[in-house]
Amino acid sequence: MNSTITGIGSYVPEKILSNSYFEKIVNTNDEWIVKRTGIHERRAVNNETTVEMAKLAANDLKNRYNKDLSDVDFIIFSSSTAEHKIPSLASQLQYMLDIKNAGTIDLTAACAGFVYGITLAQSLISIGFNKKILVVASEVLTRHTDYSDRTTCILFGDAASVVLVEPSSNSKIYKPVFGTEGENGHAVYLSEFANELNGLPIKNTNKIVQDGKKVFKWAVERMSQKINELLTINNLQVKDIDFFIPHSANLRIIEAICSNVNVDKSKTLQSVTQFGNTSAVTIPLALDLGIKNSLVKPGNKLLMIGFGGGLTYAGIIVDWNEI
Ligand code: UT7
Repeated sequence: MNSTITGIGSYVPEKILSNSYFEKIVNTNDEWIVKRTGIHERRAVNNETTVEMAKLAANDLKNRYNKDLSDVDFIIFSSSTAEHKIPSLASQLQYMLDIKNAGTIDLTAACAGFVYGITLAQSLISIGFNKKILVVASEVLTRHTDYSDRTTCILFGDAASVVLVEPSSNSKIYKPVFGTEGENGHAVYLSEFANELNGLPIKNTNKIVQDGKKVFKWAVERMSQKINELLTINNLQVKDIDFFIPHSANLRIIEAICSNVNVDKSKTLQSVTQFGNTSAVTIPLALDLGIKNSLVKPGNKLLMIGFGGGLTYAGIIVDWNEI
């Protein structure tokens, strides 16, 4: 059975952190941030939790697409910022949304989490186990940001997006690519209890630490290769794709990938300029911006590719077909 994404909803907190805010707390300036990252502003929660933001995003989906979520039969929740290790975010969301009987799992794949979630949802539907799957991405990254480190604090923001994946007779989710390079795990990490990783010393401050330059180089090189591989395994070419949605970590990464794979900038969707790096949320948030700006239309082919901590990546092509 084929499946597709049939609806989307998002939530961003009201509080805006502009670049000028960071000029007051670290040695940086608006010009550097815009030139090196493309980011103009990002959002930060007041008191909202990761699961509360997801609930608000799900309500947005319900209202916009007139969808009943009470019969969702599986929830896949992608996040690296859960407040509790147990219970899972997915099971908290099941209760909050009054969903009667659903399987629930959390998925941790950092910024690639949303695409991994879509892949799992597609697989569950294709083997006939499920019919209505909520794939959720929600992150409160500002809670895990070191506001004394100018190389990371300017990057991250908070947001949530959810999509529904349902069986479809005229649209499909294509074969994915994914992979992991665990030997580079220390390039991006968020650790609370351990003081070493892969035999190397790390900071266990519960704040995100990254080797930005290393991730930047890896992301441009590997994602360019993997986009070409994703097209090849699905017998598609760049011209067949209506919109490319790479993970929005840095506008320069997106521009470099587009240039490598010969994609026109007008065919890319991003959320980094307005909302910063929201990890698992950047891809669905960029898609939602494309829908709200009347760029994405039913029938469009979308190529999404996430990458980040792991290091891991996942890419997929989807026929967008809101129902
Ligand atoms: O989503 C998870 C995966 N993460 C990523 O994809 C992140 C990928 N990496 C990046 O986005 C970029 O590497 C950063 C935005 C983190 C950094 O940009 P960059 O162009 O790679 O800068 P850099 O690290 O090469 O630093 C250049 C200079 C350095 O100064 P010196 O050594 O040349 O004197 C930094 O100390 O810029 C300095 N710098 C800053 N200056 C002003 C670093 N951060 C800042 C800052 N404001 N916020």
